[in-house]
Amino acid sequence: MDKLAVYPGSFDPITNGHLDLLERALKIFDHVIIAVASNPAKQPLFSLEERMDLIRRSLQGHPLEKRVSVDTFDGLLVNYVDRVGAKAILRGLRAVSDFEYEFQMALMNRKLNNNIETLYLMTGMRWIYISSRIIKEVVISGGDVQGLVPEVVEEQLKARLHA
Ligand code: PNS
Repeated sequence: MDKLAVYPGSFDPITNGHLDLLERALKIFDHVIIAVASNPAKQPLFSLEERMDLIRRSLQGHPLEKRVSVDTFDGLLVNYVDRVGAKAILRGLRAVSDFEYEFQMALMNRKLNNNIETLYLMTGMRWIYISSRIIKEVVISGGDVQGLVPEVVEEQLKARLHA
């Protein structure tokens, strides 16, 4: 039986930190589903379709591409995870500041479905300070994010934020 994990998030947009985490997860799991939350309340910069398209394009030609699928979900994450037949939710941890939010989310998900576990992996040191939010902030202010996000994401960020 294939070991399957769900990697949920807003991915607005995907960064090299997300890709690093994905590569680490694929050392443990056979297949990872990147589950993009529709999250309209968060007022994302990119639409759901655009975020999924950026993820797919970022993975194009990647050696692990075939072991990753990209999907979307709304409603409760644990219901989605259950529906696809996975037992694990994958999340990344950067600094202590992530901990409180992640701790709360993991325990709430456990309360909602005790058969699903949340696994935290630490991103590589190179990506420890980046997040989708800070990447957008830098691009808005005219800064360079080359090497921190996939090329296709960099292009789309510039097109969207400098339009
Ligand atoms: O990348 P993000 O924005 O930190 O991801 C947060 C996400 C999408 C994983 C989280 O908001 C979520 O799981 N939303 C779905 C609603 C849900 O299940 N909430 C209960 C757990 S807190």
